[in-house]
Amino acid sequence: MTNTTDDLAHLTIVDHPLVQHKLTLMRDKATSTAGFRQLLREISQLLAYEVTRSMPMTTTRIETPLMEMDAPVLDGKKMALISILRAGNGLLDGVLELIPSARVGFVGLYRDEETLQPVQYYFKVPLELSDRLVIAVDPMLATGNSSVAAIDLLKKAGATNLRFLCLLASPEGVARMKEAHPDVQIVTAALDEGLTDKGYIYPGLGDAGDRMFGTK
Ligand code: URA
Repeated sequence: MTNTTDDLAHLTIVDHPLVQHKLTLMRDKATSTAGFRQLLREISQLLAYEVTRSMPMTTTRIETPLMEMDAPVLDGKKMALISILRAGNGLLDGVLELIPSARVGFVGLYRDEETLQPVQYYFKVPLELSDRLVIAVDPMLATGNSSVAAIDLLKKAGATNLRFLCLLASPEGVARMKEAHPDVQIVTAALDEGLTDKGYIYPGLGDAGDRMFGTK
């Protein structure tokens, strides 16, 4: 794990060899839809390890072969995973496999073609967000417009302890998120070079939703 300094202090890049290897396979345009989806599931579990580092714990009374003890367990009910539709669902599935008791929400945003601003079309999140560690998931932090808008909505719904989990981030997206939500830690597998004029991350991996769902 690399914690960057200064401007990027709120950014964690997970530089574990397994993560970097899988990311390279995902970037490769020759990787099939099925392969991409499987890799996304695997990499999301490795990224989940980092993003949940300080997640809430509780204890449960168990009996070892020697004695009784209060042993630590994850308090999954104190956690909310929020998928930013639609590509967020690819990351969500893998993380949920690791933390099956986490509560789950969805935020749907589309980009208005004229204003280029995100418009909400769906919002359904667990109750009592203020009591939970809230992890918003979206594979690509590109311009940051929709990610910032999603975090705005989650804060309006009561979230105070938020993290953002993505696969790739652009410097522009990280700066935008930092400006709007300096309290939100970003966890990613890589910080890429920049954005094309159409808002794609480069070198990137293309459209994450299209690659995972086989659409064009
Ligand atoms: N969304 C994607 O799916 N890919 C990008 O490169 C940028 C935004």
